[in-house]
Amino acid sequence: MVTKEKMIELADEARKIADKAYAPYSNFRVGAALLCEDGSIVTGTNVENRSYGLTICAERNAISTAVTQGKRRFLALAISTPDSSAPVGPCGACRQVLSEFMPPDAPIRFACNSSEFIDTTIGELLPHDSLHDLKK
Ligand code: THU
Repeated sequence: MVTKEKMIELADEARKIADKAYAPYSNFRVGAALLCEDGSIVTGTNVENRSYGLTICAERNAISTAVTQGKRRFLALAISTPDSSAPVGPCGACRQVLSEFMPPDAPIRFACNSSEFIDTTIGELLPHDSLHDLKK
């Protein structure tokens, strides 16, 4: 069970790391904070490229960093988009990658620069997962 306070802490960490985003093309900073099974928090930001398609999203950067640290199970995620007044959810590619490492009912929060936020799960974001049976 991930507490209300932990989700607030995760959203704060996501907001802080968004300031490290490399987003000179979109000017749209994104921060992601993962709560790992061992209680640690791993963060990531979007990293853009002048060859636009090579951009890496904050969520996938956080996952890659965590896996590199030997962490493979995540209990919760917060995403912060401080350049938006409405909450923004992860792209399709990130939903697929997150589903590899998060239980379907793990809480996910999208926060923005207003008091609005959305709480959801990867099960809701990626329903009818056709590759479910391939999961290790
Ligand atoms: N972006 C993310 O980092 N995560 C998302 O879930 C959606 C989009 C980034 C990619 C790009 O750098 C910028 O936001 C605008 O799309």
